[in-house]
Amino acid sequence: MNILGIESSCDETAAAVVRDGRVLSDVVASQVEVHRPYGGVVPELASRQHMQYILPVIRTALDRAGVTLDEIDGIAATSGPGLVGALLVGLQTAKTLAVARNLPFVGVNHLRGHLLAARIEGDDLPRPAFPYMALLASGGHTGIYLVEADDRITCLGSTRDDAAGEAFDKVAKLVGLGYPGGPIIDRLARTAGEEQSFPQALRRRDSYEFSFSGVKTAVAQHVARLGGRPDESQISAIARGFQRAVVEILVRKLTLAARARQIERIVLAGGVAANAGLRQHAAAVAKERNLELFAPPIEHCTDNASMIAYAGYLSLQKGERSGADLSPRANWPILSSSSSG
Ligand code: KG4
Ligand code: ZN
Repeated sequence: MNILGIESSCDETAAAVVRDGRVLSDVVASQVEVHRPYGGVVPELASRQHMQYILPVIRTALDRAGVTLDEIDGIAATSGPGLVGALLVGLQTAKTLAVARNLPFVGVNHLRGHLLAARIEGDDLPRPAFPYMALLASGGHTGIYLVEADDRITCLGSTRDDAAGEAFDKVAKLVGLGYPGGPIIDRLARTAGEEQSFPQALRRRDSYEFSFSGVKTAVAQHVARLGGRPDESQISAIARGFQRAVVEILVRKLTLAARARQIERIVLAGGVAANAGLRQHAAAVAKERNLELFAPPIEHCTDNASMIAYAGYLSLQKGERSGADLSPRANWPILSSSSSG
């Protein structure tokens, strides 16, 4: 079964072809250069870029997979959560192709895509069996999820304010680093000589909620104390301390949740899962606590269409279909344990 997956929820235009759960091609056109001067994603510009890239990206994905549109058996596209104007482009393209080719189509939840990315077949890495406890940390979302099956995912807690990736990006901006801030802070944290310590919020054992606005404010106050102009080594010390504060709380909640639910496998997901410090700390804590850690390759952590094609493949295989009237959803939370019983 060949599935074409399309992702356009934020600032990456992506298409991928998955055959029976294995990736044949995975193409991402990044818009980072377009948004960089603004220090963040400008929704209107994102939609326009998606319009420009979407067909060439799909064409390249088909070519690299060595298949034609005639050989595609189903189409999956992200239908939320995300920027509505951006989602519209990928979703409408997917629906049009599906109608024109009389192919089954399904809309995919972007968060579900991230949470199942560790199970994509095709590389030599071990894949987690169900059930597993996952940390999803990206630019738009941060939460702890119990994944019992591809269609049984429960949110145990999420952030009350900023997402972890958003905090990385905002702190980078505060100290005058570029955009997106996550990878830059990650790099600086590795080589910093000193470390400035910052507080961690909501460390309670019984809560899987996060809050990153406090650490962001603490960084702003520290920068103000330095006269608003930290030097290079002070910036590196901030990067290292900020990253530690975020990474430690993320791993703490993930491992606390795993232990509380007696789950042995833990999984990292989302753009922040690309962070070297997070991967290292998670590996160390997993070893100490006898947990098995699964960290997908970086290209399956940051936004991509393989995860959408893969999640779509699982849904289509079960006979799930979306109608041609499917609309994009800006918000589409995965049910929390309290609301799903
Ligand atoms: O999953 P993603 O690609 O898009 C969303 O769904 O939001 O995540 C993007 C976020 C950005 O905030 C970016 O700064 C962060 O992931 N990110 C990182 C790293 N690479 C990307 N954060 C920390 N360290 C990294 N190496
Ligand atoms: Zn994402």
